[in-house]
Amino acid sequence: MKNYRNVTEDIFWIGASDTRLSRFENIFPIPRGVSYNSYAVIDEKICLFDTADVSVADQYIENLQALLGDRTPDYQVILHMEPDHCSQIARVAGMYPDMTLVGSAQAFKFLHQFFPELDDMKKQIVKEGDSLSTGHHEFSFVAAPMVHWPEVLFAYDKESGALFSADAFGTFGAIETGLFADEYDFEKEFLDDARRYYANIVGKFGGQVQLVLKKAAGLDIKYICPLHGPVWRKDISWFIDKYQKWSSYEAETDDILLVYGSLYGHTASAARKVAEEIAATGARVSVYDVSGTHLSVLIGEAWRCRRIVIISPTYNGGIYIPVRDLIEDMAALGLKNRKFFLGQNGTWAPMSGKLMAEKLTALAGCTVSDNILTITSALHDEDEAAVKAFAAEVAGA
Ligand code: FEO
Repeated sequence: MKNYRNVTEDIFWIGASDTRLSRFENIFPIPRGVSYNSYAVIDEKICLFDTADVSVADQYIENLQALLGDRTPDYQVILHMEPDHCSQIARVAGMYPDMTLVGSAQAFKFLHQFFPELDDMKKQIVKEGDSLSTGHHEFSFVAAPMVHWPEVLFAYDKESGALFSADAFGTFGAIETGLFADEYDFEKEFLDDARRYYANIVGKFGGQVQLVLKKAAGLDIKYICPLHGPVWRKDISWFIDKYQKWSSYEAETDDILLVYGSLYGHTASAARKVAEEIAATGARVSVYDVSGTHLSVLIGEAWRCRRIVIISPTYNGGIYIPVRDLIEDMAALGLKNRKFFLGQNGTWAPMSGKLMAEKLTALAGCTVSDNILTITSALHDEDEAAVKAFAAEVAGA
């Protein structure tokens, strides 16, 4: 049954969505699923771009066969060798052993590591500036190292204006109805997932994303064909602007993120009082219990918000474990340019504020307020002035 989609008259999406997988990379919850996009160009020569994850393999192969019928692909381009896109290369190569595999030198190194049985396939190594003609289309390759692995290439087709962008411009979320982003209310339905995907998967590599955005700025892009999520054909500059902000570690909004940890509810009550006082100033604050929220959601929110409040119990003389994990993940992903405000709770020796400050001041472009809000076991009437002053400082920053 025809389950592939047209991108243009002769460029087709032959990917598939998985809504059964609970965690992408066995880490990130994907309650709305994820799509694995693969594309086929039916020109004088037939060219495939990437494959799909093993979890959707049968649907992917069904789409490929439904589109090609008796025809045989000439090229299988490998833009990204991560298994969520390359898992079916050996299966496709087995079906079409005469096709030529096209990819970067490093992609072929990884191909050998994953699929040594493909060592004898015909191969064409390409690099930035090289191109591949299929007849009417000519695909120019653009190096995109570390977006999100080192071997990654983008491919740009001048004829259609399609940019095949590998993981860049992707998002969590299945393709359920339309293929194109403009067939959804993307901001409402996908933006949080797109940001969460970006920050957690590619966030560490903002510098490399900036470099490839500079290269893309010289192209007349009419379609962005990512490896996950909807294809872009309208308002492309809106989404590129998001990538500009995210990759330069510039906050997307002036909102405040407040994250707290709480063993028994006392720190939670204090955090809610702080949030109430901040909100009373008219500032927008989003509040999360670190223990009830997946780290990837908090990382996405850290990319969105300019000011971040963290209130942590002192635990074993240190930082409450899930708060410590959040801070370490922020550091590992290279979060920059945020203003931090800290609160601590401790029944006999509050320490978490000082320890959090030591870690957060090490983040580039970040400031940490000296005014650490300290709670001893629970919030008390005499803490009111300190809470108000703390909230006022956050709201005015
Ligand atoms: Fe979607 Fe880096 O793989």
